Amino acid sequence: MSDHFTVKMQAINDYDNRPKAANPLKIQDLTLRDGHQSLFATRGRTEDMIPVAEMMDEIGFWGVEVWGGATFDTMHRFLNEDPWQRLRTLKRYFKKTPFSMLLRGQNIVGYRNYADDVAKAFVEKAAENGMDIFRTFDALNDFRNFETVVAAIKDCGKHFQGCICYSLTEPRMGGEVYNLDYYINKARDLEKMAADSICIKDMAGLMAPYDAFELIKTLKETTNIPIHLHSHFTSGMAPMTHLKAVEAGVDIIDTCMSSYAYRTSHPAVEPMVMSLIGTNRDTGFDIKKLANINMVLEKEVLPKYKHLLDDSKVSIIDINVLLHQTPGGMLSNLVNQLREMDALDRINEVYAELPRVRKDLGQIPLVTPTSQIVGTQTVNNVLFDDDDEDYKMITAQVKDLCYGLYGKTAVPINSKLQKKALKGYERGSKPITCRPGEVLEPELEKSKKELEGLTSDMEDIILYTLYPVTGKKFLMWKYGKETPPDSVKPRTLEDVKQEEELIAKAKAGKLVEREEKELPEKSEYARTFNVFVDDEFYEVSVDEPDGPPMVTYAPPAGQSAAPPQPPAPAARVSGAPARKAPPAPKPKAPASESKPASKPAPTPAAASADGTPLTAPMPGMIISYAKKVGDTVEKGDPVVVLEAMKMENSLPAPVSGTIKSINFNSGDSVSKNDVLCVIG
Ligand code: CO
Repeated sequence: MSDHFTVKMQAINDYDNRPKAANPLKIQDLTLRDGHQSLFATRGRTEDMIPVAEMMDEIGFWGVEVWGGATFDTMHRFLNEDPWQRLRTLKRYFKKTPFSMLLRGQNIVGYRNYADDVAKAFVEKAAENGMDIFRTFDALNDFRNFETVVAAIKDCGKHFQGCICYSLTEPRMGGEVYNLDYYINKARDLEKMAADSICIKDMAGLMAPYDAFELIKTLKETTNIPIHLHSHFTSGMAPMTHLKAVEAGVDIIDTCMSSYAYRTSHPAVEPMVMSLIGTNRDTGFDIKKLANINMVLEKEVLPKYKHLLDDSKVSIIDINVLLHQTPGGMLSNLVNQLREMDALDRINEVYAELPRVRKDLGQIPLVTPTSQIVGTQTVNNVLFDDDDEDYKMITAQVKDLCYGLYGKTAVPINSKLQKKALKGYERGSKPITCRPGEVLEPELEKSKKELEGLTSDMEDIILYTLYPVTGKKFLMWKYGKETPPDSVKPRTLEDVKQEEELIAKAKAGKLVEREEKELPEKSEYARTFNVFVDDEFYEVSVDEPDGPPMVTYAPPAGQSAAPPQPPAPAARVSGAPARKAPPAPKPKAPASESKPASKPAPTPAAASADGTPLTAPMPGMIISYAKKVGDTVEKGDPVVVLEAMKMENSLPAPVSGTIKSINFNSGDSVSKNDVLCVIG
């Protein structure tokens, strides 16, 4: 029994000069990528990484993950930072520790498969700027999507880490699809591709400790390649899972500095370091150095990001992840999406529909981008389907998936859905079975032409190819053609201090500073008005300070002898509605009984005098209009492509006619029910 356990105790007398362990556990730090991606929506700025960079370089990490995943998207879109520059800047501070990035295979750092020329150029540029370890994954675990990037990684002489996305269809490893054999076979495939290491990527924190033990132990017995475990804390199991993986002989694990750990992030490094002291897996790390890094992060960096922490609940564990076997980030996306559409009450329908949509789409793992694809389609089904029709609004990405553009699904896609999705699909109605990259036309030349006059830099061209709309916006800022909005500017510690002072004042009721005056005696002429502001109700008394009031006297209610007089024009409540009936002596109607005035729609959809409006069924960003003013359309023709939750929805013409007006431009954000165009 004890033969299985590779962790053995050794006597340690001097902590500071402890002997090197026989088989030290290697650790990759994720603070600067997955850490802030998981906790702070990837909003970490390069300037906030610099204060700890040199200290982190001294720890002895196997690697530091600093790039990839969502950083590329977020940096240019929300931070006005050039993602390529981050690599070059950080490389000046990390002189010893290898850099690691998360590469989404042929998806690169975007949400679809890109052409081979883009994939190759991206890897070459990343390597040139200092990337060392390319952690590569494919959302479908279809390793044909690795072929192009792996060739480029190897050509650059860099480390190819092949990932297997860990997925489940039931509470534990096993079942028809995601069983031990599945993972062992995938590891063998990676071995054949000459992977330098293999990572089990447990993005949702679903891996149970004893499943980890069995899986890692079997992998160690079947392959000689180092095994790396990436497990999110979301469900709360990851620290136990890590420890069992260490016992099973895992080579490398992923952690974060404690201030960037837990919740949807990763276990902290410090407890693991301490747990292994005095064993043959001792990391050799100096806990005091780690503590110093945390002090800097806590004092100088985290105050700027604290407001991004989801503190809506006290628990740091997401029990829903265990119930639904889906990533926590995906669940919170679903909640946000429903909230934006005023449909949060339908969350249970979404939870019920989700496994059905996933099964229809080939029981794929749920990780970026497939988690968005399945999640958004599920929300669309719940909101737009009716008794007569399923999958009424199919996103462009689901159509691509049905065509085979993402690769091979774990089990075949529901053929009825596939047929419906591919009806009229631009690439054809017969799905492909080859490697997706084979059918994708080269993209860089086209981008180069489109950027002529603005830039000819290959890094810019790649960024624009990956993110045409937001990438173009960023390049306009970068080259001074447009002024970046205030929203992309960094928050300083001074801003944080000012905000905190304001909040403290508000809490003390001192936000509006006013002179305190003694309340004068109310005269018998004081007159009461009801004032309605939106759905709030105020009772206001008007009294003239000297002399008789300038409002006409009206008899108290109940005395109907004299007809009520209209209020004098001098009534000094500007904007107060004139009352037709005499005021009751003391109206006591609580605010809740007054009918709230319903807010008008931002752009009234009742523009029907000029034609039929096409309204946004959900909030999102306009990608493009397929038509222009004056064009004729048939009912059902695609008119607008609207991006919502990173998925594209093609919105059809509600009627046949001529486009009378187009109300937005590509890149504009729209709210639900905004009139996108009018057809007359
Ligand atoms: Co992760």
